[in-house]
Amino acid sequence: MAMLADKALIQAFEQQLDPLDVAASGMPARMLGFGEISCIIELEALPGVVLKRMPLFRSEAQAADYLDKYRTYCRLLQEAGLSLPEDDAAIVQGRDGLWVLYFLQEKLDLDTIGHRQLDRLDGAGLQHMLEAVVDAIEKVWAFNARQTRYRLALDAQLSNWAWQPDTGRLRYIDTSTPLFRVEGVEQLDPELLLASAPGFARAIIRAFFLDDVMNRYYDARAVYVDLAANLYKEQHAELIPRCVRLINERTGHDLTEKEIADYYREDKFIWSLFLSMRKLDRWLHRYVYRRQYQFILPDHIRR
Ligand SMILES: Nc1ncnc2c1ncn2[C@@H]1O[C@H](COP(=O)(O)OP(=O)(O)O)[C@@H](O)[C@H]1O
Ligand SMILES: [Mg+2]
Repeated sequence: MAMLADKALIQAFEQQLDPLDVAASGMPARMLGFGEISCIIELEALPGVVLKRMPLFRSEAQAADYLDKYRTYCRLLQEAGLSLPEDDAAIVQGRDGLWVLYFLQEKLDLDTIGHRQLDRLDGAGLQHMLEAVVDAIEKVWAFNARQTRYRLALDAQLSNWAWQPDTGRLRYIDTSTPLFRVEGVEQLDPELLLASAPGFARAIIRAFFLDDVMNRYYDARAVYVDLAANLYKEQHAELIPRCVRLINERTGHDLTEKEIADYYREDKFIWSLFLSMRKLDRWLHRYVYRRQYQFILPDHIRR
């Protein structure tokens, strides 16, 4: 199946979109998920496809450059041995001189997404999935080790994988933040990530959190800590000991449960702060600046 973006349709969608109320817009659409930066939309007019909307760009060229990096990132992940969903992209004009990049991805069965499997699989099934995820992550580190030009980073949380227990097929879906280095040079402009944060908060994030967030996904140990700690957020803290054991056995790391708990407290703080600052910013746009707020925010994330 080759996927082709219908640019006119996506442009039409963007034109009538109300970021404050996606479902209320003229073209029937529904929100499937939220990440920290993009949001995942399903359009009735595009069955079998999800859209990931990135309203981040000041020019078409800037969006095209991001798309270019995305394509390289996907190619490298595949070279490393990961399997990715079919995809495409479209760059369209938003409001107020903004350019919006939409990634399209084949829509995978929601029940196959890693965190949704936690309630479905039995102990053996769970073990099998976690092993597959850890092995896939190891392929990325092996790729980084076997050549010197590229360094790939990865956000390995379970919500970023789709797993089919019957076939053992694992796919990595969270490709829209192309975090990688070429000859030591970071390819993702951190200011773009900051674009989704309110102006008053950028200085704080830049000073205290940005380096940490940008670097942690290159670090094998940190990625595993993040994967295990995320089980708290998914309300499955009881699985952390076995997840830690499995990671240690398969990779030779020596993670501890305490390390996971400490990390989670800090991470939860960072992202909750980020989200509350974005909500305040949305409120300011609506009632004080009286400009359209461009980002689509989740109401509440349980952590
Ligand atoms: N191709 C897809 N098919 C079905 N659901 C998806 C797909 N891509 C993303 N999702 C859903 O949206 C969530 C967030 O997507 P993701 O690509 O990880 O974005 P983010 O970078 O914002 O975390 C996923 O955890 C999953 O639940
Ligand atoms: Mg994600």
